[in-house]
Amino acid sequence: MLFSSKSLIGIDIGSYSIKIAAFNGRPGAYALKAAACFKLPSEGGQAAPMEPGFLSGIIKSQKISGRTASASFTGHSLIFKHLHLPQMPEKDLKEAVKWEVRKEIAIDPKDLISDYVLSGSGKDKTLSIIAFAAVRNEVEGQMRLFKEAGLELKVLEAVPTALLSAFDLNNGWEAGVNYGMLDIGDGRSTLAVLKDKRLSFVREISIGGRDLTRSLAQALNISYEEAEERKIQNGLKEGDKAAVKALSAPLERLCTEIHRSFDYYHAQFREGSVTKLFLSGGTARMVGIEGFITNLTGIQSYADDPLRKIKIPKGMDRQALGRIAPCLSIAAGLATRVP
Ligand SMILES: Nc1ncnc2c1ncn2[C@@H]1O[C@H](COP(=O)(O)OP(=O)(O)OP(=O)(O)O)[C@@H](O)[C@H]1O
Ligand SMILES: [Mg+2]
Repeated sequence: MLFSSKSLIGIDIGSYSIKIAAFNGRPGAYALKAAACFKLPSEGGQAAPMEPGFLSGIIKSQKISGRTASASFTGHSLIFKHLHLPQMPEKDLKEAVKWEVRKEIAIDPKDLISDYVLSGSGKDKTLSIIAFAAVRNEVEGQMRLFKEAGLELKVLEAVPTALLSAFDLNNGWEAGVNYGMLDIGDGRSTLAVLKDKRLSFVREISIGGRDLTRSLAQALNISYEEAEERKIQNGLKEGDKAAVKALSAPLERLCTEIHRSFDYYHAQFREGSVTKLFLSGGTARMVGIEGFITNLTGIQSYADDPLRKIKIPKGMDRQALGRIAPCLSIAAGLATRVP
């Protein structure tokens, strides 16, 4: 049985590209309706602001019939906060989370939107919570963009919860095991630890593909555009020692931050180690990145393939999809959200 009219178009707009995924079917038996990744037009190295016409044009190009969508929040104001609160009824919890978030942010409470997910409950019966908050203007601006593009936005969520849905789409859960997902985009990376079907820990790291390109451009004394092309072409391919060294520097910093985050997670949450790390985002497509991160972190790392368990209809280009697959994780997670 197909539920195509109800399924959502998952839309992940980043600072470098826009990613779309849409499925037919139901959990456990999805078929691919559309999947694509488009580089955003940029002005002097900066992506131009997303226009409604551009967004609607991209959806039209995918020939997707539905108009309901779910999207990742793109604003810069998003913050995460790990909280431990006593057990209380849900409506009180909402207020308590708002209060905790607003304690630390110098923004008028009415200008802030907050939400939370339950990440677990401690032995002392306290609730572990991950709270998200963003400036109201940015949230409303993104909702307006979708409306003007002719889309009905049913879900707007932060990247970490979309990564949780993406993981759930393809993987079994072993009880008590900590899994890591790291989305390495252009301007930033998002690290999420997942356990028992929940988001357990989140951290945003301000290192992304842009830092790799910059480092390469500087070391080889070439333009940013040339460096970008070389990075995408060769990645960490052995043989090009100077390039590998230049790309390694920001990646080493990223691995140090991953290490620090996991150390903090073990210490603060009294948790076991992360056993597998799945890499998504454009930078996860780079030649040699899995081995590099595995070696430096000591955690087996894999480029994520969010379409691994999705039926690909005849006529769709499997190889092309395979090449962009790691970019699609967030969009695929979003596409599985229940409206
Ligand atoms: N084959 C490749 N090899 C190396 N890097 C790549 C490859 N393909 C894309 N990238 C890099 O991935 C980055 C873009 O990733 P992505 O599209 O996930 O970013 P984004 O989601 O738009 O950005 P952000 O999440 O930071 O806002 C760029 O730095 C780009 O150079
Ligand atoms: Mg991104």
